[in-house]
Amino acid sequence: MTKGEQIDLRGVSVYPGALGPDEQAVLVERVREIARAAPMFHPETRWGKQMSVKMTSAGRFGWVSDRRGYRYERAHPSGVDWPPIPAEILAIWEKFAPGMRAPECCLVNYYGEGARMGLHQDRDEADFSQPVVSVSLGDDGLFRVGNIERGGKTESIWLHSGDVVVIGGAARLVHHGVDRIRFGSSALLKGGGRINLTLRVVT
Ligand code: SIN
Ligand code: MN
Repeated sequence: MTKGEQIDLRGVSVYPGALGPDEQAVLVERVREIARAAPMFHPETRWGKQMSVKMTSAGRFGWVSDRRGYRYERAHPSGVDWPPIPAEILAIWEKFAPGMRAPECCLVNYYGEGARMGLHQDRDEADFSQPVVSVSLGDDGLFRVGNIERGGKTESIWLHSGDVVVIGGAARLVHHGVDRIRFGSSALLKGGGRINLTLRVVT
């Protein structure tokens, strides 16, 4: 795992190619294990619309969304506990968020063909002094970063498999999202698609 080159995108730090092919393959295996314990589901928005990404979580808390709103929960919708965050994923946090509190949630998002994520802020956490660390695996994703306030100028960058992004400091509450993926652009995931892991301190 290398920190290597760092790109600043409106205060968000992007580390292209931070994870090598072998590390990415191990992470995919860990994600499979997480999904076996806590199966991926299609969350609904507060307005009853199905989100295009599928998700699950590891850690003390998992992020869920349904008609009752967005929130962290101690258990998967089926009632089972979320599995622990795997050591290889914790090591990425240690490297890219040194000295910060331990992450309490690893959200796993799966983008199939046509999936996207609208501009939003990560603001369901209690302590905004702690960053969000995100890992991209599989197909390329067009990541857009805006402002803390709604609207205004935005900038985009293609995230590739093995890239790490840190949303922290003054940029912790910037709007961000994924406009689209290039389905089939990576051979990492059989069947294609993009996995994004986001690590967060919740409490
Ligand atoms: C997110 O904001 O939760 C996901 C970002 C990404 O998929 O890169
Ligand atoms: Mn987010």
